[in-house]
Amino acid sequence: MAEKSPAADVEAGLLAHLNSAGEVPDSRSFASSLGVSHLELVGVIKSLSAFRIVESKDIIKEAWVLTEEAKGYVAKGSPEAQLVAAIPPEGVSKDALKAKLGDAFDVGMKAAARNKWIGFEKGNKDLVLRKVESVMDELQEQLRRLENGEAVPDKVIDDLKRRKLITKEKSIWHSLKKGPEFVLKRKTLATDVTTEHLRSGDWKDLEFKDYNYGAQGQPIAKGYVQPLMEVREAIENIFIMMGFTEMPTNNFVESSFWNFDALFQPQQHPARDSHDTFFLNAPATTQQLPEDYLEKVKLVHQSGGYGSKGYVYDWKRDEAEKNLLRTHTTAVSTRMLYKLAQEKPFAPKRYYSIDRVFRNEAVDRTHLAEFHQIEGLICDYGLTLGDLIGVLEDFFSSLGMSKLRFKPAYNPYTEPSMEIFSYHDGLKKWVEVGNSGMFRPEMLLPMGLPEGVNVIAWGLSLERPTMILYGIDNIRDLFGPKVDFNLIKSNPLCRLGL
Ligand code: PHE
Repeated sequence: MAEKSPAADVEAGLLAHLNSAGEVPDSRSFASSLGVSHLELVGVIKSLSAFRIVESKDIIKEAWVLTEEAKGYVAKGSPEAQLVAAIPPEGVSKDALKAKLGDAFDVGMKAAARNKWIGFEKGNKDLVLRKVESVMDELQEQLRRLENGEAVPDKVIDDLKRRKLITKEKSIWHSLKKGPEFVLKRKTLATDVTTEHLRSGDWKDLEFKDYNYGAQGQPIAKGYVQPLMEVREAIENIFIMMGFTEMPTNNFVESSFWNFDALFQPQQHPARDSHDTFFLNAPATTQQLPEDYLEKVKLVHQSGGYGSKGYVYDWKRDEAEKNLLRTHTTAVSTRMLYKLAQEKPFAPKRYYSIDRVFRNEAVDRTHLAEFHQIEGLICDYGLTLGDLIGVLEDFFSSLGMSKLRFKPAYNPYTEPSMEIFSYHDGLKKWVEVGNSGMFRPEMLLPMGLPEGVNVIAWGLSLERPTMILYGIDNIRDLFGPKVDFNLIKSNPLCRLGL
């Protein structure tokens, strides 16, 4: 049963008034006649209109309201009037006036001088004299009129606006009349059958509130999965369905050797600059490198082999030993391929990884200094570019991207290389979704992989498809310290495309 509350009194008052007078032309003055705030009355009006007990029409008006400063002038007089009132018949020094008037001094001096209410003694600019007996405080009067809702000439309004004494505010109030379901007293509808109702038997006569099938359910107090993790899992499942095995990616710190050199990336390549890569201060270098293999990598850079001329430069071990935060998960793929090459006899493999990489990039709406990379590779005899295209089509169509285009590209470690574009139906354009290629013999043969074994591989970021799927256009809303927990909680369970 509803308890008697102030709102119930307001409701009773409003309904009684409508019953006798038939209408309330202005909810604001009605609220003050009841002695309640307008806001309180509006709450009651909303609830009564929902049941069509009253019919409410909005009245929207823009009106000038006084600023805090102006309200002070209404109470204490305009600065110019305050100033004149503070001048004794014998005059007063500027400093003394300033001390008395505070903030109002400067404005008051100017306006009073303009009105010729004050003057100065000859030869003594510091002594302020009063030149009128009493003043008519026009400003105070105008402000008072505005406050009472009386008409004020436009010229005055312009003047008050310029002095920042008034601002325009939108106010909404309501006119009310009886609605089709009007009653003097609302019946309280029961929402539940209680033990009390059953015992007394009055449940038979109760009127029950209708079920609201449109109401939202209780939010469930549970953990929520970050969108990146949702998409990561979906992609993992695709890899697993396609027969791929996950690679161990649990080393953010990598040596330049595995991140670059083993990938046939020359030591003077711009990506190896500190502008693009985060190098470690401590430990700055790595000592554990596979010596035999390192020697082969050195030779292929310096003088080639396996049908290649190499880059023809002086390869430096120091450079290869530098520790860094891995710039791509291809470093992991390289380690895995090297490991695979050591296992005899050779067995074909399909590997994938999804983990974090780091780049020394300027952070903006689409770039972060750390992000996640998805990478897949297949290592087998006789693979061709056609196999790569086929696998990419399988993989991306499982992601909901079935219209693909490929563009020739360059990576130091793949030849040929292709950028992957997908047509996005929502954005109505082709967007770049990944990079791919066939690993070069200069990379694979020094590892000891048999002749005739090829590796097709591709990589993409996890953030990019996630942003597209969730309609997020600033990467910082998705990943990093600015992510809003509510975004994570309110993400749709179903997404189009994946
Ligand atoms: N390592 C590449 C990148 O960081 C992606 C890639 C992986 C390209 C495998 C080709 C083959 O963009």
